[in-house]
Order: sequence, then C-alpha cells, then structure tokens
Amino acid sequence: MIIQFDNVKKYFYKRGLFRTEGKAVKAVDGVSFTVEKGKTFGLVGESGSGKSTIAKLIVDILKPDEGKIVINGDRDIVFQDPHSSLNPRMTVREIIGEPLLVRHVGKHEIDKMVSQVLKTVRLKDFECMDKYAHQFSGGERQRIAIARAIVRHPDILILDEPVSSLDVSIQAEILNLLKDLQDELNLTYLFISHDLRVVEFMSDTVGVMKSGKLVEIASREEIYTSPKNEYTRHLLESIPRI
Ligand SMILES: Nc1ncnc2c1ncn2[C@@H]1O[C@H](COP(=O)(O)OP(=O)(O)O)[C@@H](O)[C@H]1O
Ligand SMILES: [Mg+2]
Repeated sequence: MIIQFDNVKKYFYKRGLFRTEGKAVKAVDGVSFTVEKGKTFGLVGESGSGKSTIAKLIVDILKPDEGKIVINGDRDIVFQDPHSSLNPRMTVREIIGEPLLVRHVGKHEIDKMVSQVLKTVRLKDFECMDKYAHQFSGGERQRIAIARAIVRHPDILILDEPVSSLDVSIQAEILNLLKDLQDELNLTYLFISHDLRVVEFMSDTVGVMKSGKLVEIASREEIYTSPKNEYTRHLLESIPRI
C-alpha cells in the first residue's frame, strides 16, 4: 500500500458575516481507499464531486478535517490546464529546473537533468530548453508539465484531469506516454477524470465519486462489466456509444 485514506473528511464553509451561519460544502465526506504500488487508481465522477480536493489532500495543499491519510513515498502532481500551471515568464529550462533549486543542485547538473527529463517525455531537449510555454501546442505543454512533475523522481504521480483540456487525438498520445512512463519509472498513479472512457483506459482499480463520497470501488473489469452501484450504472449509461 502506497496511499491510504481512512474516513477522510474535508468541508468548506461559505464565507458570510457569521461563519457558523453558512452551510458546509462537504467536498470530501468520509472517503476510504488504498492504492497499491505501481498501480493506477482511477477516480471518476462529475464536476464538483470532490476529486480535486482528494488530489490536494494527497499533495498537502489541503489538510483533512477528519480521518487519516498515509502516503508512503514522494509525490508530485500534474494539473488539467498546462496553460495556467506553467509560468508564462519562465523558459522550459527554468520551469522544469525550478523544483530542483531547493535541493541545492548545481546549475550545470540541473541543465543535465532538465535535458534528460525532456527526452523522457519525448521532446527534443535542445529545441525546447529556451522557449516559453506559449510557444508550444497543448499536448507539448502537458508533456512539459509532466516533465516538471517527474524531474525529482517521485514515487507517486497525481494526475488531475491531465488530458481534459486536449483534443481527443492528442489525449491518446498523452495517455500512452503516461502508460509508458509508469512502466519505465515504476510510478504509482492516482488518475482523475470526469471521462469514464479515459479512466477505463488507464486504471487498474476505479473509484466512483458522488457528492464527496466514494459510492463504489472495484477493479476496472467489475466497474465496466458488472457495476454494483446504481449511480455507477447511471454514469455508464450516459457514455455516448461510438
Ligand atoms: N477552496 C474551496 N473553497 C470552497 N469550496 C470549495 C473549495 N474547493 C472546492 N470547493 C467545493 O468543493 C466541492 C468539490 O470540489 P472539487 O474537489 O474541485 O470537485 P471536482 O474536482 O470533482 O470537480 C465543490 O462543491 C467545490 O465548489
Ligand atoms: Mg477537479
């Protein structure tokens, strides 16, 4: 087990004159699950169901109100929109090198690591290093975001809607890259998407979120062939058939 959530709760309180007056938004409301090393746990659910809150709890952007979170390993995160997650004033060299600065790695060493990780995400290092994020396509920008997330060799990658802002043809490219990287780098994924087909393609185990609760957790096989939960069935029925 590399990630464990045990009855985790995170509520947000609406701002008002009196804090106690507002109703709580139960973003994560008693969630328990485990993720095994080297596997992909897919989190699926409609917008607002609490998926990103779980991601933020794992990378310590948020603290839980209740419950226990155990993480055995270093983790990093890739967000949905590479346009807003990459600093427009920094070159690719600086964007990817930045997480290494806190480690007191020398400049020359950082350049070597940036160049190496650009190759890992299948970008041409010498053509990319000194360009800015806006000079790349959406798919290339997401490769840069992935490179930044893996440059410190994390054990766990949190992927929060990593292909949702991309065209379908580019989505497949990035998903295949993520699969290759998982094998090459022995990564554990928490893969978040509102798109059931994308989650099916990526996941070993799937958790279905609804209004802050995990209503069903099962193997990919079970979720897509014999879902137990009514809401899971409802979601599956609403997938457009090709
Ligand atoms: N910082 C916040 N302050 C107040 N409410 C929030 C905050 N972050 C998320 N929420 C609310 O929590 C719920 C779950 O949000 P989120 O985890 O982002 O869902 P998802 O990623 O599944 O779309 C939503 O109702 C959202 O509006
Ligand atoms: Mg989200």
